[in-house]
Amino acid sequence: MCGIVAYVGHRDAQEVIIKGLKRLEYRGYDSAGIALLNNGLNVYKKKGKVSDLENHVIHENLRSTIGIGHTRWATHGEPNDVNAHPHYSSSKSLAIIHNGIIENYSSLKKDLIQKGHQFLSETDTEVLIHFIEDIWENNDCSLEEAVRLALNQVIGAYAIVIMSKDNPDMLIAARKGSPLVIGIGKDEYFMASDATPIIEYTKDVVYLNDLEIAVIDNGELRVKTVEDIPATPYIQKLEMELEAIEKGGFDHFMLKEIFEQPRSIRDCLRGRLDAHAGRLVLGGIREYINKMVNADRIIIVACGTSWHAGLVAEYMFEEFCRIPVEVEYASEFRYRNPIIREGDVVIAISQSGETADTLAAIELAKSKGAIIIGVCNVVGSSIARASHAGSYTHAGPEIGVASTKAFTAQLTVLSMICFSIAQKRGTISDQVFHQMLVELETIPDKVERVLKLNNKIREIAYTFKDVPNFLYLGRGSNFPVALEGALKLKEISYIHAEGYPAAEMKHGPIALIDEEMPVAFIATSDSSYEKIVSNIQEVKARKGRVIAVVTEGDNLIPQMAEFTIEVPAVHEALMPMVSVIPLQLLSYHIAVMRGCNVDQPRNLAKSVTVE
Ligand code: G6P
Repeated sequence: MCGIVAYVGHRDAQEVIIKGLKRLEYRGYDSAGIALLNNGLNVYKKKGKVSDLENHVIHENLRSTIGIGHTRWATHGEPNDVNAHPHYSSSKSLAIIHNGIIENYSSLKKDLIQKGHQFLSETDTEVLIHFIEDIWENNDCSLEEAVRLALNQVIGAYAIVIMSKDNPDMLIAARKGSPLVIGIGKDEYFMASDATPIIEYTKDVVYLNDLEIAVIDNGELRVKTVEDIPATPYIQKLEMELEAIEKGGFDHFMLKEIFEQPRSIRDCLRGRLDAHAGRLVLGGIREYINKMVNADRIIIVACGTSWHAGLVAEYMFEEFCRIPVEVEYASEFRYRNPIIREGDVVIAISQSGETADTLAAIELAKSKGAIIIGVCNVVGSSIARASHAGSYTHAGPEIGVASTKAFTAQLTVLSMICFSIAQKRGTISDQVFHQMLVELETIPDKVERVLKLNNKIREIAYTFKDVPNFLYLGRGSNFPVALEGALKLKEISYIHAEGYPAAEMKHGPIALIDEEMPVAFIATSDSSYEKIVSNIQEVKARKGRVIAVVTEGDNLIPQMAEFTIEVPAVHEALMPMVSVIPLQLLSYHIAVMRGCNVDQPRNLAKSVTVE
């Protein structure tokens, strides 16, 4: 939620910041703003996209070598010019950008109003900068110390950067619960919510830790904790390449990311799986594998698409490892006094590694003695760091708000974890273990074959682009695929869509079926094939319009369905990695045909760092 960028050095800060904000727009895009030092501390803000801000400031001569910028996903206060960040302090000598929520802002605001402060916006952020300035003015201390004292009284989550009218070389940043990366160039520094705005300038970065304050002053970086203990910044090398965050000839990031899946799955398998040698090595969990093997149960916590990956994993783990698995929405789990026993294994799945509910859920489980295994895409993210061990999905940056390649990479990692545990527990025979590894190795090629159906899927999309509703049905591990297909469609096309286990249709959704209702069946040849054929017949009998994802060579369902999409045969446990691809493409094309902004759907954000 919200993206922040800051720069100090010798370049044109406006250019660096606007470019950076565009890269972070996936985090929020309802308004944007920038503060620059140019004949004083000037703030420019605009409701809408970063490009609206750019058009707003483009005619001004705003040369400045220091600045801060923000792209917003509103929490406190509607999206408008006034509520957009940066916010000034009372005297207008400070400006702040903030990602997160100051939970005790209303009590702080009340006190400040009593002291005569006047607020222009409805935001918690404006309260924070007034509060900092108030402490600064009344304590005869440095600005850095005032920030530290203020943060000691703040409840909530934040990544903030502050600049000052009177100090053209200084930026002060801090984080708790929201990410902040500092890029270190030659005589210049960058700060951002993730590394994408930084990568084209430097690969040396510091990930600020929770409750740390970073001060850049006169070309020097200092870090300390909010308790005033000096900390040594740990400089890491970014492994990401610039091309990975550009569209590379595709119309949208989402389409690029869908088409990247053969590569991203291969990258995820690389160095870990050698089917020929029967070898599966996940270095990141090596030290904890025995604890996982001996666990009485596994709890999976996640949100959104990652939760769907967790559901697929539940089928897999129970089938092959014979360990009971519970899949929990992180937001529900953390608020219901869950029973967690010492030694329980909690797998946290998160593309961004920053989802606030997932992070809080694992902190809770950790405090009760659980072992936390992170399955994250973003290297160095908060969830990755809060986990005892984990495996990265290595899908590369996912920029489209609707998750696609992260989902299939999560399934790839989860299946490798599953087969490693099953082998060590002796719940899988050597023959099946070997067969599953071979199967896993073939997935990228099979995904590639499904992508060749893009034109056919576009035609199907054309038929259904104007419908108001859509139903997705599947059984077994294709049930979570039905949920994911429905989620993709509603996220980016705003068509109401529901995913259901196909047999549950009789307990409600069947009432919706008439000649107008499209029903997408994920009906590949597996152990529930006959059952799903009956479900298709039930829909046909009520004149529903059937689109079916089937296994190549199926000659029964094509006679019943209005449209069929054939995917290669895959073991049913791994089928979701293949059967989800046509549904990603279908929702993409429908959304494009409806004129929707597929990469930045309304009201959504890619990284949900608020509850
Ligand atoms: C948001 C995104 C989804 C994502 C979910 C969980 O809702 O729009 O695409 O699945 O958060 O995010 P995570 O980063 O934890 O996987």
